[in-house]
Amino acid sequence: MNHDSRADALLSGRVAVVTGGGGGIGAATARVFAGQGAHVVIVDVDAGLAAGTVDEIAAAGGSAVAVVSDVRDADAVDDLARSVLDRYGRADVLVNNVGHWLRHPGNFVDTDPEFWAELYRINLHHVLLVTRAFLPAMVARRAGAIVNVSSVEGLRGYPEDPVYAAFKAAVIQFTRSLAVQVGGHGVRVNAIAPDVTESLQVPYSQWLSAEEQAQWPQWVPVGRMGVPEDQADVILFLASDLSAFVTGHTIPTDGGTGAAGGWFRSTRRPDREWTNRPIAP
Ligand SMILES: NC(=O)c1ccc[n+]([C@@H]2O[C@H](COP(=O)([O-])OP(=O)(O)OC[C@H]3O[C@@H](n4cnc5c(N)ncnc54)[C@H](O)[C@@H]3O)[C@@H](O)[C@H]2O)c1
Repeated sequence: MNHDSRADALLSGRVAVVTGGGGGIGAATARVFAGQGAHVVIVDVDAGLAAGTVDEIAAAGGSAVAVVSDVRDADAVDDLARSVLDRYGRADVLVNNVGHWLRHPGNFVDTDPEFWAELYRINLHHVLLVTRAFLPAMVARRAGAIVNVSSVEGLRGYPEDPVYAAFKAAVIQFTRSLAVQVGGHGVRVNAIAPDVTESLQVPYSQWLSAEEQAQWPQWVPVGRMGVPEDQADVILFLASDLSAFVTGHTIPTDGGTGAAGGWFRSTRRPDREWTNRPIAP
């Protein structure tokens, strides 16, 4: 998509709040939204990242402000909503993008309630807090689009961390249920479920050796790693009127990994292009 053309901007004049808008998928979303005419409120706990995204948007001729805030904090979220609604009178779009796997915890039985609570706060609790803070104003205007960012791990079994997977699945079910509840009030609620996308928390280009990076075509059906803009373009679709008849859905934004299940392009078997086995035969 050409994000430079403002002639038929998809979010012209709309106020869009993007949590975690300072880095990764959130920053790309903020840039893409601004390129489509939105005024973007970038909410991030990291002041430097938030300011950096605002500067990039301003340099490209777009409109954005930074709000430094921790969305896990209920009082901070109330302040955020009050300041946005006082200043602009509305929020047309809300992207609940913050989320994190935190660390590899080992086996479930070795984890504790404190860790589960940390995962809950960074992956689900703030989605509820921020949505509750902005939803009444959307309902009052009978207009709004909410986009939640779940994960591929909310759709498949995730053996490295079943608790993270449970909260990401909860985001999908919250999306579906709230969409039905508020559909008659002019508000749409959708989600994306990303996979394999370079960002601050999953820096594949640093994690992988050159040899491993050459294996993206074996790993991902579309043949490459995702970049944050791949996610941002789908979020744009769900935030804009292009998806006016879409609500309650989660779009897997995964380059085809979900469709492939456990299938990979095979390099070890000259007679067969595909394998679903981690062994040669
Ligand atoms: N990158 C992927 O491949 C991938 C895969 C599955 C799901 N996701 C989901 O996508 C979303 C974005 O992930 P990303 O990879 O772009 O992450 P990222 O780490 O690159 O960016 C997250 C941003 O959120 C900000 N942030 C963190 N905690 C915050 C808080 N408490 N309050 C406000 N801001 C906060 C960070 O400062 C950062 O700018 C997350 O929900 C993540 O679970 C990403």
